[in-house]
Amino acid sequence: MNQYYITTPIYYVNDRPHIGHCYTTVVADVAARFQRMVRGHDADVFFLTGTDEHADKVVTSAAENKVTPQEWADRNAAEFRRAFGACNVSFNDFIRTTESRHKDRVIEYITSLLKSGDIYRGQYTGWYDQGQEEYVTENAAREADFKSTISGKPLVKRTEDCYFFKLSKYQDALQKHIETHPAFVSPSSRQAEILGRIRAGLNDVPISRPVTSDPATQWGIRVPGDDANRVYVWIDALFNYLSVVDAPERRTFWPAAVHLIGKDILWFHAAIWPALLMALRASSPAYDWVKLPHTIFGHGWWISEGMKMSKSLGNFISFERLMGYADRYSLDAVRWFLATQGPLSGADADFAHAKFIETYNAELANGLGNCTSRVSNMIDKYFGGVVPENAHDGEFAPQPGGGSPIDLALAARAAAKNPAPAGAEGRAFHFPETIAFHVKRAIEDQAAFDMSASLMHVTEIVRFVDDFISHTAPFTLAKTMNANPDAKPALAAILFACAEALRVASLLASPAMPTKMAHLWRDWNCAPAAGVALVELARYAGDHSLKAGQKIVKGEPLFMRADPAEAPPAERA
Ligand code: MSP
Repeated sequence: MNQYYITTPIYYVNDRPHIGHCYTTVVADVAARFQRMVRGHDADVFFLTGTDEHADKVVTSAAENKVTPQEWADRNAAEFRRAFGACNVSFNDFIRTTESRHKDRVIEYITSLLKSGDIYRGQYTGWYDQGQEEYVTENAAREADFKSTISGKPLVKRTEDCYFFKLSKYQDALQKHIETHPAFVSPSSRQAEILGRIRAGLNDVPISRPVTSDPATQWGIRVPGDDANRVYVWIDALFNYLSVVDAPERRTFWPAAVHLIGKDILWFHAAIWPALLMALRASSPAYDWVKLPHTIFGHGWWISEGMKMSKSLGNFISFERLMGYADRYSLDAVRWFLATQGPLSGADADFAHAKFIETYNAELANGLGNCTSRVSNMIDKYFGGVVPENAHDGEFAPQPGGGSPIDLALAARAAAKNPAPAGAEGRAFHFPETIAFHVKRAIEDQAAFDMSASLMHVTEIVRFVDDFISHTAPFTLAKTMNANPDAKPALAAILFACAEALRVASLLASPAMPTKMAHLWRDWNCAPAAGVALVELARYAGDHSLKAGQKIVKGEPLFMRADPAEAPPAERA
């Protein structure tokens, strides 16, 4: 798949941005940035987010705030945009469902489906809560003894004209598609849930709501040719993924590679949405290009300090609280934590302060940050901050006769009575192979949408370099430079290997931590060339490697160690 289209859910403008919204959007951002880097060509990736604005609640909240629904939507959509900007999210487009570029397309899609008969006019009968102005399902009505759970008044049986989507017609096709495309519903734990429900049988679904004198019912897209009905907000919303790329210059992005969503909205995305797409495709040759998306990925939920997030419990992680973390520990540390510790694979994840600090210190401050500082400090000290001339190939294996860089380093240790760690004798470090392995695996993990596995290759490269440094003790070797002319080139080989490995680690880390890695690239003079694919950029000692003679500035440490005893940060004001 040379082009890559990734989407987030579009967010209800009634809510204020919180960790749930930021999580999905940041994870999609990491994936989009990674895929741009894999291809070396930004234009092959299209990343969409946006807002879902036609919910009835928008009208009531707007009225409470004495503004029009459109003004209310404008105000809150701007909040989401601002929040995602603050999270450094590189979306290519931000769709708002009240924009005509979306509404016009939805009308075309519904028109085509009305023509083909997959949307038809019928009657809906159900239990209606008059106070809440909403239908209650048969089960919910029975459980509540046919009374409103809000007002206690009896529910009434009500029948009204309504449009239905022929979901039942697509039952077999859906089932077959899911069974034969294991990646379609991901992670695999979600698949059984969806298949079970499909196999149990599908009924046609109402996709319209009546328009009455109540202003709340006048918000939304009208059913084409029938002003007394409007398109149900979920159907309107799902079409955003298609409407945005339904233009000649963008159609090649379809089908989407990944619709990233939360588990709570899986049914709409894994059953209703593909059925709508199949129906649209069948409705007219003009929609021949409308294939099914590759993957619907349903992640789990964040909880907080071990409990469901709630404003009253005081454990709610609002956007402002997240930014409190960003202000103290850096935005990139927050992005790293979300991407590596989040509930992507299914189980819910806990946003606990202690866990944040532990991850931050282990992987960033003491990990990547400390390792880059150590290496740049040594290059500064022993080579004047310039990448040394290096003729070595990165294969560090002890030689029978001695004399290789690793032998010299171990000999220097022995002479200084600072022997290598026990059990380390004869250990070899193969840099080119190790680097190539982690790069390959990181790309594969991203293709499988395993964000944390992919980013763990950064930590593994850092660990490899740390091990190599503790094994070879370059500072001990450096002390022998005056007495032994071979020590300097050996030290050069060792430090070059460390720096080059960290350069590659920084590439793999950059989709999660674009700002910090850009700082490192500035200090180390090694910003990746534009237009070059990751495998080329990341080749150990390849065309894009560190070059002898280029400056490496020992800059500020990338991440300051965090004090676990310090109280959690407050919300950003
Ligand atoms: N507007 C619909 C989506 C339409 S997509 C065609 C919607 N919006 S939402 O704003 O309510 O939720 C958006 C996403 O936020 C969902 O994917 C949901 O799973 C996610 N989250 C809300 N709370 C969350 C957590 N506590 N943790 C992780 N994600 C959570 O639904």
